[in-house]
Amino acid sequence: MRLSELLQRAPVDMPKLVRQRVKQLGVDKIKAKIGEVLRGLDEVILDVLSGMMIGRPVALVGTVGLGKTTLAEAIAEILALREPPYVEVACHSHMTAVDLTGDIDIAVVLQAGFEHPLSYIPGPLIMAHGGVLVMDEINRLNPYAQAALLQAIQEHYVYIRGYRIRSDFLLIGTANPREYEGVYELSEALADRFKFVEVKMPDRELLRSILLWKAKELLGDLEVEIPTRLADIVAKFAMEAQKAGHPQSVRSLSFAIADTAARAWAERRDVGIRELKRNLLINVTADPELRGVLEKIFDKSLNE
Ligand SMILES: Nc1ncnc2c1ncn2[C@@H]1O[C@H](COP(=O)(O)OP(=O)(O)O)[C@@H](O)[C@H]1O
Ligand SMILES: [Mg+2]
Repeated sequence: MRLSELLQRAPVDMPKLVRQRVKQLGVDKIKAKIGEVLRGLDEVILDVLSGMMIGRPVALVGTVGLGKTTLAEAIAEILALREPPYVEVACHSHMTAVDLTGDIDIAVVLQAGFEHPLSYIPGPLIMAHGGVLVMDEINRLNPYAQAALLQAIQEHYVYIRGYRIRSDFLLIGTANPREYEGVYELSEALADRFKFVEVKMPDRELLRSILLWKAKELLGDLEVEIPTRLADIVAKFAMEAQKAGHPQSVRSLSFAIADTAARAWAERRDVGIRELKRNLLINVTADPELRGVLEKIFDKSLNE
């Protein structure tokens, strides 16, 4: 990326580009494509697309493991507004504004001019121009980094050491509401620009079929059958745990099922309920109280 070119960048009408792509592909095709990796998110997809078609930044909000990151990436892939279709940032609290904007090396500029390839060190806010910027766990950004992002969104220019670089992109962020404690919240000015779209746990029946599908996918060519009763139990467990204020992750639930089946295969025995319970609770050993609660919920799920 040469600074000389960046300083002369032409604006891109991003919402128009999205509208063209959506018309071209058709909403049903977009939903069907996403359906190859995620199910039950049609409402969310419509909310994201409608936001993008008017140039509004979208944030997918929900607890961990519900497909937020996967969905953001999948939508960017399908729209394929340019190549590569998206730039992704894993946000964290120590991220600086420069981590997002990139930096201009003044010494290089003075010695070798704007043409020199080292005059600008790339950053995602500039790199995303013409495509989608996926900002994962956006609620972790500190206020300084948020300010740089806000400026890019509202002015479509990024200021680096006084130089002004055009950048047009569509933003899809993800955020985990449970993490709001202890991390930064989005500033009011930034939050006001976003469309917050909630991603929820699928209902029990859908969850059950997703779990079977994903667990099978994980097991690949391993010759092992997953008893459907396993998925019934896990889906019931997840619903009850959620009601009790302990939302479960679709990813880790699928892992628990697949892991149980892989272990049964390794030991050349039948897939067992006890092993399933152990796998589901394997990551909560550090919190005996929560473990106790989840154990009870699991045991109750067996009796249906
Ligand atoms: N609704 C769903 N349908 C199918 N798979 C899902 C669904 N939700 C989650 N998953 C599975 O869980 C994985 C984790 O999703 P991820 O995008 O990392 O979640 P998040 O970003 O919300 O933590 C996905 O790749 C997918 O395999
Ligand atoms: Mg994620």
